[in-house]
Amino acid sequence: MAIEEGKSYLSDLWYFGAMSDEVKPGQHLHKELLGQPLLIGRTHDGEAFALRDICPHRGILLSGGEMVREAGQSAIECPYHGWRFGRDGGCLKIPSLTGEQTERMDLSKIKTRAFPVREAQGLIWVWHGADETVEPFMDPVHIDLTDGRKPRFWQRDVFNCHVDHAVIGLMDPAHIPYIHRQWWWRTAKSVHDKSKEFGPVERGFSMLPHTPSSNSFLYKLLGAKPETEIRFQLPGVRQEYVRVGDKSVVGFTAVTPTNDNKTEITIALYWTHPVLDIVPNFILKNAISTFVGQDRDAVNAQQVGLAYDPNLMLIHDADVQAKWYYRLKQAWADARAKGEEFVNPVKPATLKWRS
Ligand code: FES
Ligand SMILES: [Fe+2]
Repeated sequence: MAIEEGKSYLSDLWYFGAMSDEVKPGQHLHKELLGQPLLIGRTHDGEAFALRDICPHRGILLSGGEMVREAGQSAIECPYHGWRFGRDGGCLKIPSLTGEQTERMDLSKIKTRAFPVREAQGLIWVWHGADETVEPFMDPVHIDLTDGRKPRFWQRDVFNCHVDHAVIGLMDPAHIPYIHRQWWWRTAKSVHDKSKEFGPVERGFSMLPHTPSSNSFLYKLLGAKPETEIRFQLPGVRQEYVRVGDKSVVGFTAVTPTNDNKTEITIALYWTHPVLDIVPNFILKNAISTFVGQDRDAVNAQQVGLAYDPNLMLIHDADVQAKWYYRLKQAWADARAKGEEFVNPVKPATLKWRS
C-alpha cells in the first residue's frame, strides 16, 4: 500500500483512546477512532474495555445505553431493544426471547467487535488490529519516569484535519517563530541557527538528549542545566522530556485520528520537578491551550488550501522529521502487509535549521 499524505491510517498499533479519569467504573463514553465508532467503558470492577460502538441487532450506538450487571459481569445494555453485551463483545441476553427460544440459540455467536485495551500511567490504549485475528504483539508507549505516577494535568484540543497534518504541524520546527510568538517562549528576534542530533527509537525517532537553546524563558525557570529529549513514535505519540538532575517534567502528546477531517490532541503533563508544583493549574492550562491553539488555528487555516488538493513540498532539514514520519508509516504498512519484521528507516543524523 502506498502511503499518501493525509489519506491513510496504520493498523496493528496501539492508539491512545482516553485518559483513565475520563471513564469511571460502571460508565462508558463514545469516541470515533480511525473513522469508526468506539465505546470505551470501565466495568464496575474497574477494568477498562473497548467495543465497536454499534449494536449488531439494528445498528444503534451501544453507548446510548447503560452499563448493567448481567450473569455476574458488567454489560452494556443496548438502548433500543435491551440486548446486553459483555466486555468481550459477546451477547449475554436478548430480552425479547422466550426461555425456550433462548435455550435454542447460541447467544455467544452474536458479537460486536472488542478491541484489546491496556491501561497504564493514567492512559487508556486501544489496539487497532487490521482485523480481529491480529492480537497485540508489543506494549503501548511507556513514559520513562522515576515512579509510575499519573499525569498531574491533562487537556485536549481538536484539529479539523487528517492526523498526518496534525502530526507534522506539531513536529516541524520552522513554524515556531511564526505561529508561536509568546514572550515566555520565543520572539522573532530569538531566531538563530540550530543543529540537533537525531536517532532512531522504537517505531520512531528522537531528538537526542541535549541542553536546550537559551532562547526559551520557560527552560530558564527550571534552573541549572536542563536536558531535553523529544521522541516521536508511531502512530502519533510525542514525548518531551526535560530533566534537571534526577527530576523531570514529561510532556506527553497523543495525536489520535478521529476521522479523515478530525484529530484529537491530548496533552498530559507528568512531573517530579518541584517547580511545577507551585504553578497553579490554570496557568499551565492557559499556556498550553494558547500554544496548542496556535497550532490548531494554523492547521485549520491550512485546510482551506488543502481542499484544492495542491502538490506539497518537504524542504531540507526543517522538514526531515516530516519525511521520516512518512517513511516510518510506509515501512510499517509494508512490513505489516508482507508479514515481515519492521525495520526502522531512520538513521542517526544531524539536522540544521533556523528557528
Ligand atoms: S438495536 Fe440494539 S438491541 Fe436492537
Ligand atoms: Fe507548534
